[in-house]
Amino acid sequence: MTRVHRIAAIPGDGIGPEVIEAALDVLDHLGRQSNAFRLEVERFDWGSKRYLREGALMPENGVAALRAFDAILFGAVGAPDVPDHVTLWGLRLAICQGLDQYANLRPTRILPGLSSPLSGVGPGDLDWLIVRENSEGEYAGQGGRSHRGQPHEVATETAIFTRAGVERIMRVAFSQARARPRKHLTVVTKSNAQRYGLVLWDEIAAEVATEFPDVTWDRMLVDAMTVRMTLDPGSLDTIVATNLHADILSDLAAALAGSIGIAPTANLNPERAAPSMFEPIHGSAFDITGKGVANPIGTFWSAAMMLGYLGETEAEARLMRAIEVVTSDPESRPRDLGGACSTAQVTARLCQALDAEG
Ligand code: NAI
Ligand code: MG
Repeated sequence: MTRVHRIAAIPGDGIGPEVIEAALDVLDHLGRQSNAFRLEVERFDWGSKRYLREGALMPENGVAALRAFDAILFGAVGAPDVPDHVTLWGLRLAICQGLDQYANLRPTRILPGLSSPLSGVGPGDLDWLIVRENSEGEYAGQGGRSHRGQPHEVATETAIFTRAGVERIMRVAFSQARARPRKHLTVVTKSNAQRYGLVLWDEIAAEVATEFPDVTWDRMLVDAMTVRMTLDPGSLDTIVATNLHADILSDLAAALAGSIGIAPTANLNPERAAPSMFEPIHGSAFDITGKGVANPIGTFWSAAMMLGYLGETEAEARLMRAIEVVTSDPESRPRDLGGACSTAQVTARLCQALDAEG
């Protein structure tokens, strides 16, 4: 019997629709090659255009509507004429929080054929999995503004760290580390300057570590971590960090691995109490929107992670192999990877690679 997976596609703004349509073409191609599974895709036109038209990025029951799906494929959100905090909180963060997708996984490695801006660092020298706490920390949404416009105007942004929240992300991080060959976890904080929440983070890391005796681990302060990532990338494997720290470190990681255009992410509800969401880590990239040059590989890789999450591990592996065929060939690469291919050409090359595998 054919397995059917229901996918909610939210292309969003800017290059979001360009890369999502490319990924849906690829998923469709994969589905047609296999009798084993089929994806039923429903598209949602949520985003900044809807906000400007109707005053909200998504309908009030939007998050509830997503619960009916097996997974969500997301593009990007953000437009030049809407403040970024409105777009991000009105859609992406609302979905992540609403569906309690508290674990954000961000694999980074140098794909075959690509080069790092770091000299002497090639494929195999940089292979990381960043685990980002995705529900609290600095992006918990706690804070406020008062005395607006007055000289003593005040704004607070409170970082929240709960025992429950830190324990659950540490368990995910140690489990992910255990599943990788190196079995090593680096716990990132700034617990010298931030002496409450991140000291708790360190203490809980040490507690949870006792449940994973086969995983080795070390600790880094986030500022020193940027140095270690650039000077000694091979010493790192799995990394766990707070919402803000991991947000920043994963953009750095993507750049060190070749381009932000290839980096994928999974926003997981690990207990599967609600659907998880898969997206490229880049934003809506207004500077290249509509030019047809967006790199769709980050979205393809995200789609591969989605297939793995849905249990379609064979299709996931096929897609990853096809991505590597594309990155290996200079004639198939998009502009941000030094090539000349359009989004459509990269997509066509990828489908050819899938066909070639048979
Ligand atoms: P960005 O990721 O959109 O762009 C940064 C740079 O990378 C730009 O030069 C862009 O052209 C390039 N780039 C990004 N993705 C690319 C791709 N697939 N192929 C080729 N080049 C690519 O980040 P930026 O400029 O800081 O943000 C633009 C908007 O996106 C803002 O409104 C921001 O809030 C939003 N944003 C949304 C995110 C999301 O929805 N998950 C994540 C990050 C930013
Ligand atoms: Mg980011």
